[in-house]
Amino acid sequence: MVTAIHHVGIVVRKLDEAYHFWRDTLGLPLIREATLADQRVRAALLAAGDSEIELLEPSDGESGVARFLEKRGEGLHHLCFRTPGIDRDLEALAAQRVPLLDTTPRDGLAGRIAFLHPHACHGVLVELATPRDEAVAEESPVRFKRLVIGCQSPQESAGTFRRLFGLPDVEVNGGPRAMLGWAGGSTLLMVPAGEVGGLEGMVALSMVAPDMPPLIERLERSRAATLVGAGEITVEPTSSHGVHLHISRYHFP
Ligand code: CO
Repeated sequence: MVTAIHHVGIVVRKLDEAYHFWRDTLGLPLIREATLADQRVRAALLAAGDSEIELLEPSDGESGVARFLEKRGEGLHHLCFRTPGIDRDLEALAAQRVPLLDTTPRDGLAGRIAFLHPHACHGVLVELATPRDEAVAEESPVRFKRLVIGCQSPQESAGTFRRLFGLPDVEVNGGPRAMLGWAGGSTLLMVPAGEVGGLEGMVALSMVAPDMPPLIERLERSRAATLVGAGEITVEPTSSHGVHLHISRYHFP
């Protein structure tokens, strides 16, 4: 039923400060920005290859996003799948008694959107979106590759995402991990919580950059806290607004 990871939502304190890292330093092109009165956020979508990054700043102290910020600080907040038919999908989920925050779609930055209750997906907040327009492929120097999710049981979590959203499996070499998504595109990697400091839920984001040297230069110029290894950059969450971020050189499969 879903056809792609549309975006990953990141809660930030100040959108303007987040632009400095995500748009100016990483170089992700801004697609659109809006204030969403019903969600009480100022939000922006940035292109990141096959998927997008959504930045969310609470516009008042009472919103769900404001409470998240107060409790957990900046960081990964939700995961959004693209679907061609959100009405049909919500009906099907409701028929399976999957807990939903929105039983009918509403207008969001990504199109017509709805949120599932986090209980539906082992604590991960999932949004569905049917965009109003066809996706326009924006060139981006850094591309979304993989979202890492810490799980009590990766196989059980993978089973839930497979059943609810029809996500395809991507081959991994056995072991306790599971990977779902689109081979060569954006994927979800489910790992045992024990591998990621006991954390459950969305814990890290992996991206790829075909051309590393200009990116490293921009990161240095902006004084971002990074660890540059052979073919991989790790950005400290203090510089990437609470997100554990790994960027590796692009490999064609
Ligand atoms: Co979203």
